Amino acid sequence: MKIAMVGSGYVGLVSGACFADFGHEVVCIDKDESKIALLHKGIMPIYEPGLDALVENNVKAGRLSFTTSLADGIKGASAIFIAVGTPSRRGDGHADLTYVYAVAREVGESLANDAVIVTKSTVPVGTGDEVERIIAESGTPHRFAVVSNPEFLREGAAIGDFKRPDRIVIGAEDEFGRGIMREVYRPLFLNESPILFTSRRSSELIKYAANAFLATKITFINEMADLCEKVGADVQDVSRGIGMDGRIGSKFLHAGPGYGGSCFPKDTLALLKTAEDYDSPTRIVEAVVKVNDSRKRAMGRRVVDALGGPDAARGKKAALLGLTFKPNTDDMRDSPSIAIALTLKDAGVDVTAYDPEGMDLAAPLMPDVVMADDPYSAIEGADAVVIVTEWDAFRALDLERVKELAKAPVMVDLRNIYSPQDMRAAGFTYVSVGRS
Ligand code: UDX
Repeated sequence: MKIAMVGSGYVGLVSGACFADFGHEVVCIDKDESKIALLHKGIMPIYEPGLDALVENNVKAGRLSFTTSLADGIKGASAIFIAVGTPSRRGDGHADLTYVYAVAREVGESLANDAVIVTKSTVPVGTGDEVERIIAESGTPHRFAVVSNPEFLREGAAIGDFKRPDRIVIGAEDEFGRGIMREVYRPLFLNESPILFTSRRSSELIKYAANAFLATKITFINEMADLCEKVGADVQDVSRGIGMDGRIGSKFLHAGPGYGGSCFPKDTLALLKTAEDYDSPTRIVEAVVKVNDSRKRAMGRRVVDALGGPDAARGKKAALLGLTFKPNTDDMRDSPSIAIALTLKDAGVDVTAYDPEGMDLAAPLMPDVVMADDPYSAIEGADAVVIVTEWDAFRALDLERVKELAKAPVMVDLRNIYSPQDMRAAGFTYVSVGRS
């Protein structure tokens, strides 16, 4: 089957490469000429483990190609995926659907055969109806159906998530749409990945509800972590203890500096807006957004406290290890490190930082932060070492070397990757999250 993927960003590129790997013929389309030129040279515009090899193999096998021309790319495709960005609209937090609708218009005008148009971009409830209206308005003589098929890919683990999904959600209103989607996902169907067929609106909402629920779970355990610190409990044990209950589940219960990234912050805000528009407030999600926002700055204040409080901290130096919102990505969007670095700067603290992949994107967001070549250069002369992102490279630091290089043996571990006992035994003043 021929598949067209409109938008060769994170989701489009990973999905396109994986579909090609399943044996489909895939064309990835993007308006950005420089991005397509890079892809033609085999250079990935994003960092995702395993993606370059997957792309290279499938290009070589003749199943994956790239173009800037939407009309050429969609010719002969039975499924045309829309995988363009839906950023938060400036001012009101609504998902900005300009790109989705522009693609729908162009697809309508260029459609050369019967096809299913699939929204993979995260879009508010009702967007599929509007996409359908726009394509119909173009007067295309071809049969088409508009289907919703949200993605649930985690950055850094996106290929595995695509190939071995917990579930595939397909929102289709007719048998034509369902039939083509069954063909698209047949390789996974044979893999026994569960496919949930539902209505288009339900499918659109599933994506937002899933992300809001996960964001709630994280925020819940973060508040429990604060409480643990006050009452002398250990959040790791609390998390394990509740997670063993099959109704709760153990995942997404790691306390930390607050969630960031390209999805949770934007999607929770967009869900709030939808809820407001339909006069059906989601107060739990409102609280989650507020609590998570304030947590990021609170983590900066935690570092200031570890430096001796606001007066003593002025003029001291903190070394941030990890800047990206999570490991194995170069993505800096809404990363807690941004608020932490700014809070430290506001408190007059000098900040150096090291991140294995994120420094290029981080530098413009935190212009006063000095970027180091490796973790140990960042630590040199620091009054506190702060683990912000749990990259593997930070899990087994040479603690003796850290002590020699740092001015003071103080560590603030916002991801709980070290054990308080071990750190104390190693002579560190150690502060973590939810563990007294
Ligand atoms: C998320 C969803 O998991 C994915 O299904 C969706 O399609 C896109 O958004 P992603 O943003 O890549 O994926 O990262 P994820 O691994 O979900 O982590 C999001 C944020 O939550 C990170 O900042 C992470 O550090 C934080 N987090 C996650 C926690 O603080 N604790 C946890 O237990 C899990």
